[in-house]
Amino acid sequence: MAHIVSTIAELRSAIAALKHTSVGRARIGMVPTMGALHDGHVSLVTEAKAHCDHVVVSIFVNPAQFAPHEDFDAYPRTLDADLARLGDAAAIVFAPNAREMYPEGFATGITVGGPSAGLETDFRPHFFTGVATVVAKLLIAALPDIAVFGEKDYQQLQVVTRLVRDLALPTRIIGAPTLREADGLAMSSRNAYLSADERKVAATLNVILKNAILQARRGDLRAAEMAAESALTTAGFDSVDYVAIRDAESLSVIAALERPARILAAAKIGKTRLIDNMAV
Ligand code: PAJ
Repeated sequence: MAHIVSTIAELRSAIAALKHTSVGRARIGMVPTMGALHDGHVSLVTEAKAHCDHVVVSIFVNPAQFAPHEDFDAYPRTLDADLARLGDAAAIVFAPNAREMYPEGFATGITVGGPSAGLETDFRPHFFTGVATVVAKLLIAALPDIAVFGEKDYQQLQVVTRLVRDLALPTRIIGAPTLREADGLAMSSRNAYLSADERKVAATLNVILKNAILQARRGDLRAAEMAAESALTTAGFDSVDYVAIRDAESLSVIAALERPARILAAAKIGKTRLIDNMAV
């Protein structure tokens, strides 16, 4: 069972105790999460373990990355099940409360430009400042050697990579592939919101993105994006926020597939908003 800590001071001393061994300094890895852990999260812990000696998992449903109309209150909180699922894979679980992360009078925000422009920001303008601020705080608290983030949240991975480079944080950011259900639906804590009928609609998202990749490779990226948007509506999505083929690193708009590219999408079924992305 992991050592569970809830304050930054406890986190730092628990990490210090693990780091200093009789045979030299142990390497620390970090996997930030909002809990409701599924196999996708666990795969990040496994990936982290391949690069370090001890893994710290943080579990914190970060209020700053939810807008008032979003699902902060409904977001699943399953700490006991999360700890059981992690078993011995994590040496330390950091589960702070909101006051620990946002003390009275908290007034600091980190805004990353570049890869946070457009896509998610067009629909969730508060989102990446909330993410960047909490991720910076977690990384500064733990000062891990590496931290693993999922490609599932591809724009987030690019934003965090930029943040760490720009602030020269001493942590290497590692991206890990998206874990999927048997029918290709990307695993997500939000999949728990889907009814049985909605779950069937959700499974079409990854298939439609694969078809869009084939179409994009024939040349017209904008036509491939538009065809995928209408295919999502036909499949039963209630609204489509975007389907976009972008430069895989900067996420800027591209006219042709000359460098590595990524297709990214966000769409809603009922109240549930799903995102997915793939290499083109
Ligand atoms: P959360 O949605 O809990 O995701 C935590 C990490 O798990 C992220 O790096 C995410 O990309 C990864 N992940 C989610 N689903 C995955 C899947 N199916 N396969 C592989 N990895 C997956 O992302 C956040 O939390 C928050 O924004 C956070 C970074 C913790 C900041 O609050």
